[in-house]
Amino acid sequence: MSYLLRIDSSASGDASYSRQVADTFAKDWSGEIVTRDLAINPLGHLDATGITARVTPADQQSPEQRAATALQDELIEEFLGASAYLFAVPMYNYSMPSVFKAWLDHIMIPGRTFGTADAPAAGRPAVLVSARGGGYGPGSPQHGKDFVVPALETILGDALGLDVRTITPELTYAPVMEPLKHLVPLHETSLTEAHDLARRNAAALTA
Ligand SMILES: Cc1cc2nc3c(=O)[nH]c(=O)nc-3n(C[C@H](O)[C@H](O)[C@H](O)COP(=O)(O)O)c2cc1C
Repeated sequence: MSYLLRIDSSASGDASYSRQVADTFAKDWSGEIVTRDLAINPLGHLDATGITARVTPADQQSPEQRAATALQDELIEEFLGASAYLFAVPMYNYSMPSVFKAWLDHIMIPGRTFGTADAPAAGRPAVLVSARGGGYGPGSPQHGKDFVVPALETILGDALGLDVRTITPELTYAPVMEPLKHLVPLHETSLTEAHDLARRNAAALTA
């Protein structure tokens, strides 16, 4: 067991529900935790320099391509060095925060982190916490419009091969938006369940 890599991406700091549920998991995790906070230290977008650096031999790279390679290498080394993962990725505009998408774009390199017969991180456990302002469960008006969890389960699970467990505290807008006030009890139940699930996952994965 090396370390748990925790990636944060909510811009809301301590008020973030995703961070709070991730904190509950981390509190019960017994091993070392390495944290990368993409909201505090965002990465630049992957650009043409970063993409061409991947297919340019080291001795032919420009200084800019060498810098892009060094960043990708650092992020991939940090990713592959972990034995477990904790991702706090809220829903922003039905999708993921752009800072998390940028991190994925830097580390998803065919032949290195995915796309080989045995993905190097295959089978490692990962917990994904994704808070959202609305409700997306069966029967809700927004059902079927969650484009963050399905995308992340595909990328983290199918491509990178991680064993992903997902926790979605819902209706976080209910306490602060008048038209959703009647949904506060559902929000509170969802949040309690999210923290319980975080504790249970930490216990199971630590064991
Ligand atoms: C830029 C932005 C976009 C958002 N888009 C959505 C959305 O599409 N659907 C939704 O249900 N909530 C949306 N929300 C609400 C957040 O999902 C909600 O506040 C959630 O609690 C954020 O996670 P956090 O508490 O971990 O920061 C958005 C919030 C922000 C800041």
